[in-house]
Amino acid sequence: MKKKIALIFGVTGQDGAYLSKFLLKKGYTVHGVKRRGSTLNTYRIDDIYSDPLIKKNKFYLHYGDITDSIAVFNIIKKINPSEIYNLAAQSHVAVSFEIPEYTTNTDALGTLRILEAITKINKKIKFYQAGSSEMFGKVVERPQTEKTPFYPRSPYGVAKLYSHWITINYRESHNIFASNGILFNHESPLRGETFVTKKIVKALCRIKQKKQKKLILGNLYSKRDWGHAIDYVEAIWKILQHNRPDDFVICTGKQYSIKQFINLVAKNLKMKIIWRGKGINEKAYDRENNCIIECNKKYLRPAEVDTLQGDYSKARKKLNWKPKIGINGLIKDMIAYELNLLTDDY
Ligand code: NAP
Ligand code: GDD
Repeated sequence: MKKKIALIFGVTGQDGAYLSKFLLKKGYTVHGVKRRGSTLNTYRIDDIYSDPLIKKNKFYLHYGDITDSIAVFNIIKKINPSEIYNLAAQSHVAVSFEIPEYTTNTDALGTLRILEAITKINKKIKFYQAGSSEMFGKVVERPQTEKTPFYPRSPYGVAKLYSHWITINYRESHNIFASNGILFNHESPLRGETFVTKKIVKALCRIKQKKQKKLILGNLYSKRDWGHAIDYVEAIWKILQHNRPDDFVICTGKQYSIKQFINLVAKNLKMKIIWRGKGINEKAYDRENNCIIECNKKYLRPAEVDTLQGDYSKARKKLNWKPKIGINGLIKDMIAYELNLLTDDY
């Protein structure tokens, strides 16, 4: 088999960490691009990284930023990978309303920088773009497929839509292997701390152990199609192994509201919660009548994506992919991780 070399932009993120481990197991040499920060940002990949001087595996890190064309070009030229995975993004939808220009520079133009470098350096490099169900936004049909028209509702969604189309445009005009994943929400123990599932699981575990009193959230009634990141990185890899470049929806086909997700987490933790009130005044109480969850306008978005539910029929048919971990498996995995951290606290 030809030696496979992967280059991952966004290696320090949730998906970057799972994808790196998945590709190393498949025998790849994996190169990742990390940003320089004043604090360490590699906790998700510390278990696979070792100093180049005492190298234990084929995992290498390079400094770079996809807002920096020179760095993007130089890294791709130096590594000359067989596959590039662009997972790098300012990935928080709510934050994208506060920093729209930076979000666009990273999430839209960052993709263009990589594609342009591929056409100049080696047109045989395969390219994966991390697209998002956020592009469906104010959904025009249900469930959403590869053919559903887009209607993004945030600077993040609009930037991802640019990346989706520029990837198709480079595929069609430069004849390169460039594919889009349209991934629905996927979570894991390694999920960023400010996304809603992680906020809920972490807080309820801490509340149960009396280390926190209350959790503050925003909209309890939006619905999401949540899967496990472990399943989704396998789909990402399969997209680049397909016999031709194409675009794929990756999802579970099931949806739950934020409130239903909270109830499932509470059930798994054997915590009884009682809901009272309506709208922004809706609150959850424990057995002793302590308020443990309330809502605040601070966490509402200028424009919301109310409902997402995908259809992965194309991925099932063409990639032989389907999700293996359901919502309860996901929640159990996230809870186990948090409880373990809390035990380590002692
Ligand atoms: P994540 O945990 O937020 O990771 C994002 C990664 O991008 C991090 O490594 C981050 O580095 C890096 N990054 C941010 N700005 C960068 C820049 N300017 N230059 C280089 N790297 C930069 O996101 P994720 O959940 O793993 O998602 C991976 C990708 O899939 C993202 O593009 C996201 O938008 C997309 N996506 C995610 C989901 C989901 O539900 N998770 C669904 C659909 C699409 P730092 O660690 O230094 O911040
Ligand atoms: N983050 C957050 N924090 N969301 C909250 C909160 C809160 O306190 N309270 C309610 N929500 C609601 C949001 O309004 C949204 O409707 C839903 O929970 C999910 O929010 P997030 O977990 O932040 O995810 P997202 O759907 O906005 O975006 C994620 O999924 C996209 C795919 O559809 C991110 O991973 C994006 O990068 C990804 O593209």
